[in-house]
Amino acid sequence: MPANSKFEKTATGAAWWQTGVIYQIYPRSFQDTDGDGIGDLNGIATRLSHLVELGVDAIWLSPIFASSMADFGYDVADHCAIDPIFGTMDDFGRLLAKAHGAGLRLILDFVPNHTSDQHPWFLESRSSRSSPKRDWYIWRDPRPDGAPPNNWTSEFGGSAWSFDEATGQYYYHAYLSAQPDLNWRHPEVRTAMLNVLRFWFSRGVDGFRVDAIHHLLEDRQFRDNPVNPDWRKGMSPARRLIRLHTMDQPEVHDAIAAMRQVADEFGDRLMIGEAYLPIDRLMAYYGVDLTGFHLPFNFHLISTAWNPEAIAHLIRDYEAALPPGGWPNWVLGNHDRSRVASRLGPEQARIAAMLLLTLRGTPTIYQGEEIGMQDVPIAPEQVQDPWERNVPGLGLGRDPVRTPMPWSADMDGGFTTGKPWLPIDMSATAPVWRQRTDPASSLSLYQRLLRLRRAEPALSRGSYVEVWHDHSVLVYERQYDGRRLQIALNMSAVIQALPPGLPASRTLLSSAVIDAGDRAASDSDRLLQPHEGRIGEIGT
Ligand code: NOJ
Repeated sequence: MPANSKFEKTATGAAWWQTGVIYQIYPRSFQDTDGDGIGDLNGIATRLSHLVELGVDAIWLSPIFASSMADFGYDVADHCAIDPIFGTMDDFGRLLAKAHGAGLRLILDFVPNHTSDQHPWFLESRSSRSSPKRDWYIWRDPRPDGAPPNNWTSEFGGSAWSFDEATGQYYYHAYLSAQPDLNWRHPEVRTAMLNVLRFWFSRGVDGFRVDAIHHLLEDRQFRDNPVNPDWRKGMSPARRLIRLHTMDQPEVHDAIAAMRQVADEFGDRLMIGEAYLPIDRLMAYYGVDLTGFHLPFNFHLISTAWNPEAIAHLIRDYEAALPPGGWPNWVLGNHDRSRVASRLGPEQARIAAMLLLTLRGTPTIYQGEEIGMQDVPIAPEQVQDPWERNVPGLGLGRDPVRTPMPWSADMDGGFTTGKPWLPIDMSATAPVWRQRTDPASSLSLYQRLLRLRRAEPALSRGSYVEVWHDHSVLVYERQYDGRRLQIALNMSAVIQALPPGLPASRTLLSSAVIDAGDRAASDSDRLLQPHEGRIGEIGT
């Protein structure tokens, strides 16, 4: 347990990360304090009160390590140093202490698949074929005609192989050429990377979100990937091939187990894995006998059609697929995917919040979701994301979802006194300060939901019971120790009636009204207003 801690042990034996709610911070866009237009660690420290008021339990920071910033921190040049853009190690120490003092756990990002091409390991590796670190990365000879060793493609477009003139070989990169892949079959790489985890754990960090884990290893025989017959114009060029030999290789699970063992050396720490995979394949990331990730991120709410049938099936399939004792988790968005309020519209984004915060399992909120932030249009001359630069015009760019938080009505939203690195949307989303005092705001809804979730073990720990759905409404229960909560979500824009067979419930929270008292009169009428979600207690 971290020093200076406000954390309580749960009497029920549930781990903090099971009952807790995680909040993802994209540090570049949270709060700037030095006027360079880019968020920093001191900025996060000054905004912790927002997170405490919101009612989350842990923050996960996207990478803050020394980086060449070709992929905005996901190209690490020194795993054990803070990038000066974000601050210093002292700033980090202060932020960690302040977070723990406020009862917030702190989770960092771990990027094991690749480093920056400016990392000293890679500079050494590329210096000569006989470098002791040559095999820390993946080097291959050209084909006889000089072409890359095989057909593997980069997630960000083009070949996944870049040629190094000086040493006459290609190196492999699942992402940018500035992000060479580490060779996880090399024992020294494993040791060095596991020691990175130890470095931060011993400083009191509570967990890691592990980046791009399904890319960690590739086929030993370097076989070509097969062509994807389902690829269509407009899709990412990387999808032209089925990534059979470059993703989700069986050996990845040994590496994950080794990471998990390091976490377990420190006790009570959390390991989350980022893997975009179908449910059946995702389950393997819990590891044999749960020796893998505590939480392999479940991104399926991002890609599943937004209607009651599809969502009910998703929940059923996911719950059924979980390994015994495996803890579920849910996500609506992140710094790589279109924002939920843009995908579903502002009204249904409120229903999505109710779903996220009432399903069984750990929810992760992406910064700005709580205020209903939308994707912000980015003009061509404002583009920052290397993916958009590499394959422009396909809508793959991630800048729209990474724009800074609007905190106040000041110029540039109180985010910076300088020129923000991406434009700030001051029109579509009301800033935090205004939403704070508006009981009908998205922020108020999130606060009420998080308060209820904290007060009701049925929501944080109870079982999930599928109840009923039609084309417009989804109803389920959460049950704990005899307590039954009914969640009814109207996913349509018209009034809906609940069927007579459902048990009556007394409303505890409605997305459409401010408190339960206001609701009493309509409790019995079983009507849901357009886009209304309601949580009620049954049988009391
Ligand atoms: C996944 C991260 O979330 C994304 O932002 C990054 O570009 C890639 N992995 C490469 O690290």
